[in-house]
Amino acid sequence: MKKNSAYLLAKKQNRQKIVALTAYDYPTALLEDKAGVDVMFVGDSVGTNILGYDSEQEVTMDDIVHHLKAVRRGTSQAYILADLPYASYETPQQALGNAKKLLANGADIIKLEGVREEIVKHLISHDIKVCGHLGLLPQTQQEKRVQGKSFEQAKELIEGALTLQRIGISMLLLELIPEELGQIITEKLSIPTIGIGSGRFTDGQVLIVNDILGITPRKLKLAKTYQNYQNLTVQAIGQYKEEVEQNVFPSEENVRHMAQEELQQLIEWVNRSL
Ligand code: KIV
Repeated sequence: MKKNSAYLLAKKQNRQKIVALTAYDYPTALLEDKAGVDVMFVGDSVGTNILGYDSEQEVTMDDIVHHLKAVRRGTSQAYILADLPYASYETPQQALGNAKKLLANGADIIKLEGVREEIVKHLISHDIKVCGHLGLLPQTQQEKRVQGKSFEQAKELIEGALTLQRIGISMLLLELIPEELGQIITEKLSIPTIGIGSGRFTDGQVLIVNDILGITPRKLKLAKTYQNYQNLTVQAIGQYKEEVEQNVFPSEENVRHMAQEELQQLIEWVNRSL
């Protein structure tokens, strides 16, 4: 069964946690889908995690569409969220055009940062499902500092969340805010919240897939490494290198042979003619 926003809402209402993870390519999407991930984020984190960019600001619509199409091909049950990248939603018309492009290429919901009332209203009035994004906003805040630690900032975030819900967003991502604030916002909203680095009480959690698999060298306080693919990958590649150099790979089981008669004929021809 393909998951949808009603499924995610029911999970919140039944106090079941929503499991989200970033996905950027076809094989990973297949595996995440098989493992039962509820929401796959084709986020602009693709820039720094996959494309080697220095910042989220370098990510383009073409980048997101390229990775989104691959993820869609590998997904049958998960709900797919795609980011509108930096500077792709400056006006309501531009946002609508780009959101439609993401939907046409496989997104079920689109995410954009901040409280952009006019833009969000315009998208929702065109029946587009929108996920808000509050707290740390990587497209405009390069420094990864916890947001909403003071009363004033926390109040502003709560008000922003309520405004976005009132306008009609279906879901809200809360990035890098104190646990207490994540809990208050989650309890005050009727739509699901997904947290990253925002404590234990949001309706769901999302992490960068590279971090949980130990693909990237960084160790973040907000993430947990469940496997060390850096070591496993270097080990596997090192073993392959050694086996190629030592003529161990390919071995008999990896090769194909010609039929004896065909080979004999070929050898005779080579000897005769070359
Ligand atoms: O860009 C992204 O993948 C995100 C993460 C913070 C989940 O929004």
